[in-house]
Amino acid sequence: MQSVIIFASGGGSNANAIINYFKKNQTVLVSLIVCNNEDAGVLEIAKKNNVPFWVISKKTLEDKTIIDQLKEYKPSIIVLAGFLWKVPPTIIKAFRGRIINIHPSLLPKYGGKGMYGQNVHKAVIENKEQESGITIHYVNEAYDEGAVIMQAHCPVIPGEPAKELAQRVLKLEHFYLPRTIDLLLQSMN
Ligand code: GAR
Repeated sequence: MQSVIIFASGGGSNANAIINYFKKNQTVLVSLIVCNNEDAGVLEIAKKNNVPFWVISKKTLEDKTIIDQLKEYKPSIIVLAGFLWKVPPTIIKAFRGRIINIHPSLLPKYGGKGMYGQNVHKAVIENKEQESGITIHYVNEAYDEGAVIMQAHCPVIPGEPAKELAQRVLKLEHFYLPRTIDLLLQSMN
């Protein structure tokens, strides 16, 4: 059995897509959801699907005992799916090459501190970009700068509000994130 840990801070639609994708798979289990916000929608998704979850503080995230606690779940991969805190270098080092992040733009454009959710899509529209998309990449110590695993593109329709662009980008995320995880897990077998 391969174990997937998801870190998330928000509504959790990507976590939901991952859980649904692997539901009938006998060899992959979403074993834990780690969340930094007790009001986050992702916690309802965890409860509904009987996935164990932690709600953590910054202090817990930065305490090195978290590494052994995460190792108890034997993760093949850790997925940051809308996790808005920076992952400490100690965790990155302990799970190097096994932590991936999804970002709602074509990195290196519109990445870095403060670039999350609607902020990204508003900036894309303000700069009159003709296309946007998603990036799935390995996580290293530099925010949004780890090696790119895949990107998917979509058009930006002139005049559309950021909310509509966000929805189009999110659809790409829901399709490609579970499948990319699946391919990465297969390559580890
Ligand atoms: C997703 O769009 C993800 O790409 C983004 O947060 C959203 C989470 O949505 N991540 C970032 O902006 C990271 N910098 P979800 O909670 O519905 O999965």
